Order: sequence, then structure tokens, then C-alpha cells
Amino acid sequence: MQIQDKVIVITGGASGLGLAAARYMLEEKGAKVAIFDLNDAAGHQAAEQLGERAFYVRTDVSSEESVREAVQAVVSHFGAIHACINAAAIPGPSKVLGKDGKATPLAKFAQMTMVNLVGVFNVMSQCAEQMVTNEPEAGEERGVVINISSGAAFEGQIGQCAYSATKAGVIGLNIPAARELGAVGVRVNAIAPGLFFTPMVATLDTKVVEALKLQVEAPKRLGDPREFAHCCAFIIENAYINGETVRLDAASRLRAR
Ligand SMILES: NC(=O)c1ccc[n+]([C@@H]2O[C@H](COP(=O)([O-])OP(=O)(O)OC[C@H]3O[C@@H](n4cnc5c(N)ncnc54)[C@H](O)[C@@H]3O)[C@@H](O)[C@H]2O)c1
Repeated sequence: MQIQDKVIVITGGASGLGLAAARYMLEEKGAKVAIFDLNDAAGHQAAEQLGERAFYVRTDVSSEESVREAVQAVVSHFGAIHACINAAAIPGPSKVLGKDGKATPLAKFAQMTMVNLVGVFNVMSQCAEQMVTNEPEAGEERGVVINISSGAAFEGQIGQCAYSATKAGVIGLNIPAARELGAVGVRVNAIAPGLFFTPMVATLDTKVVEALKLQVEAPKRLGDPREFAHCCAFIIENAYINGETVRLDAASRLRAR
């Protein structure tokens, strides 16, 4: 799908990788961008900086109602939705047992599931409902979905039970969704990033980040958010990539801790 003048919904687009994708799609590819996020200050600031082809809508991806209203707002504002990049997520430690040897309470696991996995399905499905109403480009494409997973989906570290499980769930959506939506001209892919320097990573202890950096294989550095944005553009533009998970991680395979 050509990106010029297309409308791209980006969840988590007020920060980090989502914001980098929003900037790249708009400035380098000529897209219109709708940012779905809960961080109003950062969302309004991003939209202001990006100009009139950007639109911020306060959205909680874990709420059906909130996403329904946000999708309607985008359709009223821009007239259509052609692609969505589902980057909103929350991190956080979660082990099977706490330090006291007791089973970890379920609340955190459930909350992370609601945002990182249910939220992805929620936005994908409600955007897809709009995409199927688009005229197919080149006779075949009505929309593209990119769901953001993580290297933790494959090699989760100790303490990443909930995060890894939600990110593996995102990959699990790929094939059934691509098979179902392929029939109506919508492709579904995932990106599993390695370590990129974003506000999410900045919340980690400096020692943890330094240790993680040592595990990056080649090139030996953190990813540049523009490299992530470039990968999103490639997936949107290449009509033959479907049902795939792209590991964008400089061959990193994180160890247990
Ligand atoms: N940064 C990395 O190294 C890295 C590595 C692997 C995977 N990822 C994944 O990439 C994506 C982006 O990560 P990032 O580092 O840019 O994170 P970030 O924390 O910078 O941005 C996440 C954004 O999601 C928003 N958000 C959180 N909960 C939300 C909700 N319920 N509804 C709407 N918005 C919500 C936050 O307000 C924030 O703006 C995430 O899915 C993350 O899991 C990041």
C-alpha cells in the first residue's frame, strides 16, 4: 500500500516507538496520522509539533467504548482508516512467586493483559471494521495492521511472565487474523523489537539497561526509533508480507537475567 495521504492510527503514538513512527509516516511518507494514547500532555504536544496532518485522540486501548469513540473521531476527522500500528503497552515486573514465596496476585498480570493483548485485538478489530469499507488499492489492499510484540515474546527474562505472555499472544494473533482478514484485503503483521531507547526503557534501572546493552549482538548498540519506523513503512508498502513477525533486534537473544 502506498503511504502518501493514507490515514494511519498509531496507538501509544505520544511516546517512544509510536511517536517515531508517527513522525516518520507524516514527514517522510506524507501520511495523515491519528495518535491514540492516554497521555494527554504528550499527545497534544506531539500533534501540535506534527501539524495539521496529525490528530490526537485520548484513547484507552483496553476499553471497547473508548476505542469505538476514537475510531469514529478519526473517521469524522480524516474520512477513513488505512493502517494501524498497535504500539501502546505497559511494562512491569511479574514473577510467578513473590519474594515471600507466595503466589503473585493476579491484578498486575490481568492489567497488562488488558492493555498489551486485549488492547491490540480491540484496536485491530475496530480499525479493520473501517478498513473493509475502503476501495481496494491495486485491486487487492484495503488495509494493513501492524501489532507490536517484543523479543520478550520469545526469550522472556526472569520477572517478565506477564509482559512476555502478552507479547507472545500478539504473535499468536498474526496468522488467524491474517488468514481471516486476507479475504477482505487487510494484511496483519507483527514487529518484535529488541532494545530501543525510549521512555519505556528509561524507566528501567540504569544497571539493567547497561546489562541489556551487552547482550545486543550486532550492531552493538540500542535500536534507533527511526529504524523501527522504517520497518513499519516497509510492512505497509510491501503487499506480499503478511502473517509475519519481524524480529527487529540486531540478533539479540536475551539471557535469563
Ligand atoms: N522500547 C523498547 O526497547 C521495546 C522493546 C520491545 C518491545 N517494545 C514495544 O514497543 C511498543 C512501544 O514501546 P515504547 O518503548 O515506545 O513505550 P513508551 O512507554 O515510550 O510508549 C508507550 C505509550 O503507550 C501509551 N499507553 C499505555 N497504556 C495505554 C492505554 N491503555 N491506552 C492508550 N495508550 C496507552 C503510553 O501513554 C505511552 O505513550 C510497546 O508495545 C512495547 O512493548 C519496546
